[in-house]
Amino acid sequence: MATITTGTAELRDITKMERIGAHSHIRGLGLDDRLEPRENSQGMVGQGKARKAAGMILKMVQEGRIAGRAILFAGPPSTGKTAIALGMAQQLGIDVPFTMIAASEVFSLSMSKTEALTQAFRRSIGVRIKEETEIIEGEVVEIQIDRSLTGATKTGKLTIKTTDMETIYDLGSKMIDALSKEKVLAGDVVTIDKASGRITKLGRSFARSRDYDAMGADTKFVQCPEGELQKRKEVVHTVSLHEIDVINSRTQGFLALFAGDTGEIKPELRNQINTKVAEWREEGKAEIIPGVLFIDEVHMLDIECFSFLNRALENELSPLVIMASNRGMTRIRGTKYRSPHGLPVDLLDRVLIVSTKPYLEEDVQQIIQIRCQEEDVTLSPDALTVLSSMAMQTTLRYALNLISCAQVLATKRKADQVEVEDLRRAYTYFMDEKRSVQWLKEQQGSLVFEEIDGDDTKANGTAMDEDE
Ligand SMILES: Nc1ncnc2c1ncn2[C@@H]1O[C@H](COP(=O)(O)OP(=O)(O)OP(=O)(O)O)[C@@H](O)[C@H]1O
Ligand SMILES: [Mg+2]
Repeated sequence: MATITTGTAELRDITKMERIGAHSHIRGLGLDDRLEPRENSQGMVGQGKARKAAGMILKMVQEGRIAGRAILFAGPPSTGKTAIALGMAQQLGIDVPFTMIAASEVFSLSMSKTEALTQAFRRSIGVRIKEETEIIEGEVVEIQIDRSLTGATKTGKLTIKTTDMETIYDLGSKMIDALSKEKVLAGDVVTIDKASGRITKLGRSFARSRDYDAMGADTKFVQCPEGELQKRKEVVHTVSLHEIDVINSRTQGFLALFAGDTGEIKPELRNQINTKVAEWREEGKAEIIPGVLFIDEVHMLDIECFSFLNRALENELSPLVIMASNRGMTRIRGTKYRSPHGLPVDLLDRVLIVSTKPYLEEDVQQIIQIRCQEEDVTLSPDALTVLSSMAMQTTLRYALNLISCAQVLATKRKADQVEVEDLRRAYTYFMDEKRSVQWLKEQQGSLVFEEIDGDDTKANGTAMDEDE
C-alpha cells in the first residue's frame, strides 16, 4: 500500500480566512453555562429557542457524542438561520473542523455533484494525529559561517552540546538563514526540529550568565540540557480527511490546497486513506474528530444529492450535518414532487428540525444597534425607531442593508449621524422586495417577461412563487 502522509509542517502554515461581512458581528451563540440564551450577547439577540437548540447540539458535538446526524434550520428569510450556524462555528474548539457550503456550489463544472459533496464531508472530519518527531536540543557552542566570494552560497558548521556530549553539524543555507532570523548566538539553548528545520530558542545557558553585562531584562536563563543531543518528542496536530486526500493524491500534492482547485480524487485513494486512518486509530496514533458541515440554502440540492446525503449520513466517518432552508412546501429539485422545505421525506425523517421565527420589534432594534456599532455608524434615536419599524414591514436584512446606504447620504451632507431624512432618501433609492414586486406589476408589458406553460417555475419576478 502507498505510504500515506499528513504533511504536518506545510499544513500548519495555511491560515483559514472566512468571514462574511453581513455576519461579522456574530461571535458565538450568546448562551450561559446552563445553555440558556442571554438577552444580548456575542452579537446575538432574540431567537432564544433556536439558539438554545443550537447550543445543545454543539455540546453533544464537543463531547463527541453526535455524528452522522442532521439538523435543519427552517424559517422565513432573514430570521437568523445562517447567523446561528456561524455562531455555532465560532464556539467549536479550534481543532474541530467546520465547513460551510451553499448548496448551489455543489453544481460546479469542474467536478461531479457527489464528488463535491464527498469533499465537503471529508473537510468536516478532523484527524488528530500524534506524531513523534526527532529534535536536537542543546546549547550552541559555536556557529561558523563561510560565505563564498560572491556571497551567493553559504555553508557553515554548528557546534552544539549537552552536559554529556558535543557534536558538530554541517549547515545548509536554509538553516543558516533560520539561525540568523532567530538571532541564535553561542550560549543559546535551542531545539531544532529535524524534519522541518524549525528552530526554537529556549533561553540562554546559565553558564553564560556572566559573559555579557548588557543583557535585556527579559533574557531567560535555562540549564544546559543533559544526556543525548537527539531526542524524540511527541507532537499533536489536526488535519481534515480532505487535506490528507489532497496531499496524497499524486497529481495534486499539497500545493493544490493553496490554489483551492483540487479536482476529483480517486475513490481507491480514499479507501486507502480510510484504512490507514483506521490503523492509526487502533495503534492509538490518531483520533477522529467529527466536525460540522453546514449546507446553506439546502433546497437548492437535487434529488441525487439528497440520496447521497441519506447514505453518507450513515457512514461511520460522517460529520454532523446542519442544513438551512427558507422554503415552505416546494418542489424537490430534479423531481415533480412537492415536499416540506424542498427535502425528500426520507431525508426529513432523519433530521431534527429547529425552526426560526420572525423577530419582535425590540429584538430588531437591538440587532440594528449591534450592526451600527459594527459598521461604525451613528443613528439618531428617531432614525433607530424608524429603521426598526421599516424592518418589521420589510425584512431585517433590508433594514440592515439600508444602514450603510444612509450613512453615505449622511456623509454627503457632512453630518456625522444618520437622521430620519437619510433613511427616507435611502428608502426611495433602494426598493425592498415587496415594492419591487409592486413595481413589476405596474410595469407589465414594458419589461421582458418569461412564462413557461405547464410548469410551476415561472420566472415572472414574484419571488419564491413556487412556495405559495
Ligand atoms: N439573532 C440575531 N442576532 C443578531 N443578528 C442577527 C440575528 N439573526 C439574524 N441576524 C442578522 O440579520 C441578517 C439576516 O440573517 P440571516 O442571514 O442569518 O438570515 P437567514 O435566516 O439565513 O435568511 P435566508 O433564509 O434569507 O438565508 C444577518 O446580517 C444576520 O447576521
Ligand atoms: Mg441564510
